[in-house]
Amino acid sequence: MFEAVLGVGTLIAPALFLAWWFAGYLAGRLAFRHTRGRLRLGARVLFAVLGLAGLLTAAELFLVGQLWSYGWLFAKDRVMLGMPLLVLPASAMLLLSVPRLWRLTRGAAGDRKAPQDAGSRSGASDPLLVVPVQATAVGAALFAYITWFPPGLPSPAPALTLWGVFAVTTAALWVRQRRRCWKMSQPEAPVVPRLGLRLLRTGAFALVICVGFAAWFTYSMQASALPDRFSMMAHENVDYGGGPEVGHGSGYPHGGMRAAHAHEHGHGDHTRHSGHGSSVNLTELTGPREGEPDRRFTLTAQETRIQLSSGKTVEAWTFDGKAPGPELRVRQGDLVEVMLVNEGIEDGVTLHWHGIDVPNAEDGVAGLTQDAVRPGERHTYRFRAEQAGTYWYHSHQVSSEQVRKGLFGAFIVEPREPKDVREITVLAHSWENGDDRVATIGASDTLERRAIAPGTPVRLRLINTDSYPATFSLAGVPFKVAAIDGTELNAPTDLTDTHLKLAAGGRYDVTFTMPGKPVRLGVPEGAGFAGENPDLGLLLSSDGKGDVPAPAGGPEFDPASYGEPGPTPFGRSSDFDREFQVVLDTRPGFYDGTFYMLWTINGEVFPDTPMRMVREGDLVKTTFVNRSFMDHPMHLHGHHVLVLSRNGEPVSGSPWWADTLNVAPGESYEVAFRADNPGIWMDHCHNLDHAAQGMTMHLGYEGVTTPFEVGEETGNRPE
Ligand code: C2O
Ligand code: CU
Repeated sequence: MFEAVLGVGTLIAPALFLAWWFAGYLAGRLAFRHTRGRLRLGARVLFAVLGLAGLLTAAELFLVGQLWSYGWLFAKDRVMLGMPLLVLPASAMLLLSVPRLWRLTRGAAGDRKAPQDAGSRSGASDPLLVVPVQATAVGAALFAYITWFPPGLPSPAPALTLWGVFAVTTAALWVRQRRRCWKMSQPEAPVVPRLGLRLLRTGAFALVICVGFAAWFTYSMQASALPDRFSMMAHENVDYGGGPEVGHGSGYPHGGMRAAHAHEHGHGDHTRHSGHGSSVNLTELTGPREGEPDRRFTLTAQETRIQLSSGKTVEAWTFDGKAPGPELRVRQGDLVEVMLVNEGIEDGVTLHWHGIDVPNAEDGVAGLTQDAVRPGERHTYRFRAEQAGTYWYHSHQVSSEQVRKGLFGAFIVEPREPKDVREITVLAHSWENGDDRVATIGASDTLERRAIAPGTPVRLRLINTDSYPATFSLAGVPFKVAAIDGTELNAPTDLTDTHLKLAAGGRYDVTFTMPGKPVRLGVPEGAGFAGENPDLGLLLSSDGKGDVPAPAGGPEFDPASYGEPGPTPFGRSSDFDREFQVVLDTRPGFYDGTFYMLWTINGEVFPDTPMRMVREGDLVKTTFVNRSFMDHPMHLHGHHVLVLSRNGEPVSGSPWWADTLNVAPGESYEVAFRADNPGIWMDHCHNLDHAAQGMTMHLGYEGVTTPFEVGEETGNRPE
């Protein structure tokens, strides 16, 4: 439904402009009609076109109302910036133009052949008749502009620009019409320029517009090129979420990037607003450097081909020759040490521990927390695995390509007191195979059978390593969703005939007791991620054989109303130190010299997206709104957020902690977290192609700086 409203709105806006423009044109021509009959005809046609334009305007207002019904942020820019530009001139048109036009038609009654006299010519060119119609066309053009290029959160600057353009254009139209009216009221009928001349003038005008557009296009394309090296902290746009301004630590003035470019890189003593003291280099924010690790792993990255269970081979980049990479299993509380070795991934690699709130220096983001590990190099990560649950690791260098190609694996933290359960890790992924994509579970693109004795407790750890939501269904047994994004839910209840839509990057743990008959984890028909592959899935039965129960249908699992409320350290009514608004949207534009349909955050792409600044200890609330027509799984590094509400409705079930939150089109969420892990953290869409086109922002802590940089010259490309 939301997508329909959005789509219709996108189409109506230009139609609206065309209708008003045509009306404006007709109004401007009235005085040039030679005879009374023609004037009358012209006025009638104008009435009809005005009626059509009015209907379209009403439809547009209705659509804005519909958008508003999804929440204020869905309509805010159109209501505050666009509506005045449409409603004011349209009202002037009703009050001023329509009565004058009516009088004119009446006055033009009688002899059809009689020429217009000076009186009727001056009436027909009355600025109060003509200009309101033309001004509405200008307003409609600007309205179409903000529909196609939504500004995100309206702020004074774009508002003043838009209204300035409107005011200046309307004034110019007014002056022109006044002059014309004066000429028309002379007893001698003015000589009407010939059609050829008029066409020539229009052509010249169109040419100027086209040349201007081409110049703007070329300029914007070049201006969007990212510098060869720059700091991820050098956002132009720093957002303090309504809290006190805190030192950004970079040493750059807020108007960062371009200026920063020329400077030497940040030193601690530059901290601004240093009320809260000194700055710290994030390389100091490491896990325990001393001590014998409880678990030690080595992961070697290399290029390989892998074979899927159907026999298909796909080009892959692997850890230890496997894609997905080896599953790393540790016990809660373990000191973990992982050595990453790069044996031939040209672009370099890193390891990011998705969902594990590690110290900042261990977070594995190329160009932010470390340099990419080049071929022949190695890098060691050390952290304590404090959170039990289902996580995963992946490269965070050119991640849109490297994760897709296989540089990822499961990371399981077993609880301190291990339970006796049969565990199966399910990684949903899709691989490139020529022009096709093959959906798999791990490296299996066919039905996988396993023998499990009836009565065995089973835990499926579902991980979506793909860039799109993955939908699963479980048939043959009632099941519980025991955990989301690694955090156990409170008092989960049995579900049947419910399908599970998992955010890209997100995890669900599903538990059940193995029944006497077969159980099938599958993908319901048409569920995006594996729509082409109905065989995909797992079949569990006592002997690994047996019939395949049909994938269960039914409604989508709703984490917002599942389980029982439980204690949380803060909630909807807490006092927040900072509140951020994040509007996800789409518009045409440029990113790093290429034209895209951009996926924007508050109207912008990185590095013009906001750098959200907090102070350690702050309680932070964020509102996400998705006004685009694609899902955006938002992933904040280093923290788990508590989901407070969805679409304005408070979460009524178990506390719901997420590190990757799928924000679907038309949805809004309020989430909150405690700023308890100092550093500089990525916060981005985990549709990694979106992130690679700039759908990424950062969370910075007061005074934390990074010595690392991104950009062509540095070889660091985290997305
Ligand atoms: Cu799983 Cu920044 O990513
Ligand atoms: Cu996205």
